[in-house]
Parts: sequence; C-alpha cells; structure tokens
Amino acid sequence: MDYQIKPLSDKLGAEINGIDLRVPLDAETTTTINNAFVDAVILVFRDQELTAQQFFDAAQQLGEPMDQHLSQYKVPECPMVSYVSNQERSDDGKRKLLGKAWHTDHSFQPEPPKATLLHGVELPKRGGDTWFANMRLAYEELSPTLKQRVDGLEAIHAYRESRDYLTKEERGAEALTDEEERANNVVHPVIRTHEVTGTKAIYINPLRIKRFIGMNSEESADLIDELTMHATSDDFTYPHSWQQGDVIIWDNRQAMHRVEHNYDFAEKRLMHRIILKGRKPK
Ligand code: SIN
Repeated sequence: MDYQIKPLSDKLGAEINGIDLRVPLDAETTTTINNAFVDAVILVFRDQELTAQQFFDAAQQLGEPMDQHLSQYKVPECPMVSYVSNQERSDDGKRKLLGKAWHTDHSFQPEPPKATLLHGVELPKRGGDTWFANMRLAYEELSPTLKQRVDGLEAIHAYRESRDYLTKEERGAEALTDEEERANNVVHPVIRTHEVTGTKAIYINPLRIKRFIGMNSEESADLIDELTMHATSDDFTYPHSWQQGDVIIWDNRQAMHRVEHNYDFAEKRLMHRIILKGRKPK
C-alpha cells in the first residue's frame, strides 16, 4: 500500500492516508504503524469504511483485543467491539453522556489496555471532538519540584460506576490503610516507563484514583488536580475533530482523553471501540 503519515499538531497526533484497514497489513507496514502511534501518541486512519467485524479484524493486527467489562455496551454481532453512543439513557430517563471527564482507559485493572481504537460510525455534523493530552510531553515539562514529588509515588485506582470526578468528601469516605487498599484495589506508579521506548509519562486517571499511597485523601485530591491541570493545559492537548471514516488508535500508556459533548443532541454520535491488551505499568 502507498501511504503517507503527517502530523496533526505540534503537541501530539498523526494521520495516515492510503491505508485500507480491510486489507491485511504486511509486516513492514504494521511496524511503521506501531512506531507512528507510539511516537505521536494517537494515530488517525482516514477514510475507513468498516463493519464491526472488519474493525475487530483490523485491530487484531495491532495487538490482542481485550474483553470490555460493561456487557450492556457490546455490539451484538461482534461482542469484542463495544459502542459509545449518545442515545443511551439511565433508568431516570436522563441522557448518559460518557467520557466527558479526562481519563485513561481501564486503569483500575492490574494490566490496563495499552491502546484503544475508536471508529466514528455516526458523527454529528459538527462538534463532539475527542480531546487528547500528551502525558509524555506533560512529564517532560513538569517543574523539577513536582517531578521530585511524584518520582516513586504510587496511586490507588478503583472502579466506580460514576464518570464524574470524585469529590474530596468521596475520596475521604472510605478510610482504608495503604495495605488494605493494596489488597482491595490496584496500585500503579504515577510516573510510568513506556515498555517500547523507555520514555516516561505521567500515569493518572482523575476518575479512578482514590488517593496516593502514603498520602491522605485531601492532599491526594490537591495533587491530582495540580497534575491534571498541568497535563491538560493547551501546551499538551489536541482536540480531534472527527471526519467520516476516521479510526483512531491511541496509546493509553501516555495519553488521557475526554469527549466534548458540544453538538446538537438531535444528532446521533456512535463510536465503535476496542481495547488492546497491555502490561502492568512499571
Ligand atoms: C472514550 O472515552 O473511550 C470515548 C471517547 C469518545 O467517544 O470520543
């Protein structure tokens, strides 16, 4: 295949044109794609027209798809693919708009997914951007004082149904010792080293971190806010404005993301999503 890769911004992101994901990739192209997505943190494949099964087959060429825990969001004809839709409603009839707060996927798991793939199946005419933060760049630009503070620090990640940030009160509600937290939840380093490149990135998930090991919930909340504010500033972020046919792969080891639900809700926004198996962060 004759393809071209070009950057999408000076913060992160690249796009690749000339690839048809329905066709098996040769080994050299697979290596180029894997290197490009790790280097740019997110890689956008343009002009893809894929069924859920074709999307799944394509993803298998880039890693090992993982089962996604929320069974109600699986695509019936291909359950390893899940969907993210603005048409979902909770029991009280309210529209469920997922993904609006900064996060990295499934950090509550001991081995969180290395990457996520998203296919824009139905898109609003305008708006509905997905924002990405380059956590590698954010680490490089941390102040020496903050770098020293987070060096060696570990965070307790726990699953919760809510997709809103924890309040200080919620963080403090369950007073478990560090040992109890380690036994009940998952603990990951705050600065992780990328297993492919050896580069470091800030690994936080403001939706899932209860607190840091050796720190109370109040102090932890302040530090999470400080790190999140830093990492999601204009210096390290890129909003992806979706085009019909876009498939994005992003590197959860060095990115956070969120959706901007700033579109006409009369329009449908439907994405297909696959996560790829990762290793325990180190
Ligand atoms: C997600 O948070 O995984 C979904 C992102 C999106 O819908 O743009």
